[in-house]
Amino acid sequence: MNPRVPSVAPLEAIHQFDLTLQYEAIGGEVRRAVERVLASQQLVLGQEVLALEKELSTFCGVTHGIGVASGTDALILALRALNVYAGDEVLIPTLTFVATGSAVSALGARPVFADVDPGTLNLDVADVRRRITPKTKAVIAVHLHGLAADMDPLNEIAKERGVPLIEDNAQAIGATYKGRRTGSLGSIACISFYPTKNLGAAGDGGMIVTGSADLDARLRMLRNHGQASRYISTECGWNSRLDEIQAAILRVKLRHLPDWQTARQRNAAKYSKLLAGVDGIRTPIVPDGYEHVFHQYTIRCDRRDALQKFLGERKIGSTIYYPMPLHLQPLYRDLGHKPGDFPNAERVAGEILSLPMYPELSEERIERVAAAITEFSRG
Ligand SMILES: Cc1ncc(COP(=O)(O)O)c(C=O)c1O
Repeated sequence: MNPRVPSVAPLEAIHQFDLTLQYEAIGGEVRRAVERVLASQQLVLGQEVLALEKELSTFCGVTHGIGVASGTDALILALRALNVYAGDEVLIPTLTFVATGSAVSALGARPVFADVDPGTLNLDVADVRRRITPKTKAVIAVHLHGLAADMDPLNEIAKERGVPLIEDNAQAIGATYKGRRTGSLGSIACISFYPTKNLGAAGDGGMIVTGSADLDARLRMLRNHGQASRYISTECGWNSRLDEIQAAILRVKLRHLPDWQTARQRNAAKYSKLLAGVDGIRTPIVPDGYEHVFHQYTIRCDRRDALQKFLGERKIGSTIYYPMPLHLQPLYRDLGHKPGDFPNAERVAGEILSLPMYPELSEERIERVAAAITEFSRG
């Protein structure tokens, strides 16, 4: 090394998401929970799953929880429990993760898309009204990025039409709408425990929560080969069961969830304060009466791709959730949509960028991200 050149500490990468700090903090509790399950050798649908079903449904403000193998399975099983079959239509937002649509398609049903509100990024209620048809068997509202959809008018439409309203609550566990938690705002709600979610397992997992004892009973059969009693099946179901190890880990994490949520909200407030007034940047909105849980902190920027590149060059991770609305996906080419069909979703898909966000994200890192965005805006 040349002694005359002062050494500069290399710039530390700021990942968009990082679970290692969480594991450092709660690793002991997690390992004890896993050991408890291994010692019992009860590995699938046992006491841990039953306890998690009770604890998480109570957290959401409903009476029943049914553990399944993933958030996608939760959607598929919920749709079937609500009697969605081949040829039926299910109305969903076009700006969502593909699983919302592919769960509908997996049953041979047809997703019918609706546009989103450009402010909240959630279902545009007026467009739902326009696109609902007599063939619509259910509506799925996605609570994107941690903010609840506008559930009161959506429930009104669903009620008028006599169709159930499903919450895709993969991203907004703990969020509230007019004082009530997501998971309790429709007929039934589907939760994902994919590791990156606000309540993430050490692998795949999911849960359906509902206030209906009838749906609970049907779902318990559907997740276990349609068995009404041991080895007697009354309908075609699935193998979609939750493992005891995942349930035990999730029970540990559920106890920390309120603190993690507060930390996410604190981080979001810090970002919003630092980015307020930065030219060309729009920070996420939180309408009155909503509590956002910031699964993602998503800004909008007309020069989004250039901004993402600029941040990447400064070792700051960012992700686009999601760059292509479902109606333009090759998967749904057969539905015959074209660019321009859902103008809000298409526009925001070109502008949104999710910044680093996790509970342990330090203030100093948030400041570095905000400073880089400010520098980009000035340049
Ligand atoms: C909005 C949305 N719906 C459904 C899913 C599917 O969940 P999973 O990955 O657990 O199948 C996810 C997450 O991946 C999601 O973000």
